[in-house]
Amino acid sequence: MLKKPATAVIVALVLTPVTGFAAGDYETHVENYRFSFEGPFGTYDQAQLQRGLQVYTELCSACHGLRYVPIRTLGDAQGPGIPENQVRAYAEQNFEVFDPELDDWRPAVPSDNFPVNDSVGAPDLSMMAKARAGFHGPYGLGINQFFKGTGGAEYIASLMTGYTGNDKEEAGTILYENKAFPGNWISMPPPLWGDDVEYADGHSTDLEELSKDVAAFLMWTAEPKMTARKQAGFVGVIFLTLLSVLLYLTNKRLWASVKGKDS
Ligand code: HEC
Repeated sequence: MLKKPATAVIVALVLTPVTGFAAGDYETHVENYRFSFEGPFGTYDQAQLQRGLQVYTELCSACHGLRYVPIRTLGDAQGPGIPENQVRAYAEQNFEVFDPELDDWRPAVPSDNFPVNDSVGAPDLSMMAKARAGFHGPYGLGINQFFKGTGGAEYIASLMTGYTGNDKEEAGTILYENKAFPGNWISMPPPLWGDDVEYADGHSTDLEELSKDVAAFLMWTAEPKMTARKQAGFVGVIFLTLLSVLLYLTNKRLWASVKGKDS
């Protein structure tokens, strides 16, 4: 039909926005929640990461694993910052791992990773906050991402709060309507309702707060070194600024004799 590939590309470019193909066939909504780690100087809120860990442990870990996250990293000062003895107790109380040397199951220790969990076919959440984007477009330009960020954490929080309450059965699976999920029908039953956990720090446990806490925690699992990265970037920018000033002054000085003659 279309002989020249170039024509095909142009037709695709013109048709894409019209058919809405690039954005998916369905309307989705991701709320631009505020997080402490946004912006060039944003850092993780340690108390929030600890609350998010609690939500993950008590609710999400039943179906989702965090296979790429070493339990010991819960002690990182730039992460949840949990004291070492508590990390040890946490590992022991919450998870069992299969030890090939013992040929048996044993309680987890901090040097183990969080367990794999494929009991119901739910995806691993270690990298989920980086694997999903909350903001796109317009039309693939990415301007929204430039101003709002990629939005992985916003997407996860919106997924938690986005259930409409409708469900349907399709080929023996129950699907739940969700405003944030691409396609709008997800097989995960609403995991949070509000007041599902009790926080030791007295923080609000309404649905939105729980959602933001677990989303922040999953952002940390996906990017545990974010604070260090931002600091290194900042030092880099300062260094380059200084270097530019020095180079400018050197340049002036080198040419001073030549320029001096003319004026
Ligand atoms: C009863 C089991 C179950 C529980 C509990 C559960 N999930 Fe899920 N989750 C699933 C399944 C199944 C999927 C795959 C859904 C699909 O692709 O239709 C999923 C998918 C997801 C996704 C990926 C969505 C996407 O864009 O592909 C995220 C994020 C997620 N869950 C977060 C959570 C969080 C956070 C919690 C805890 C608050 C949680 N889940 C608790 C079963 C569960």
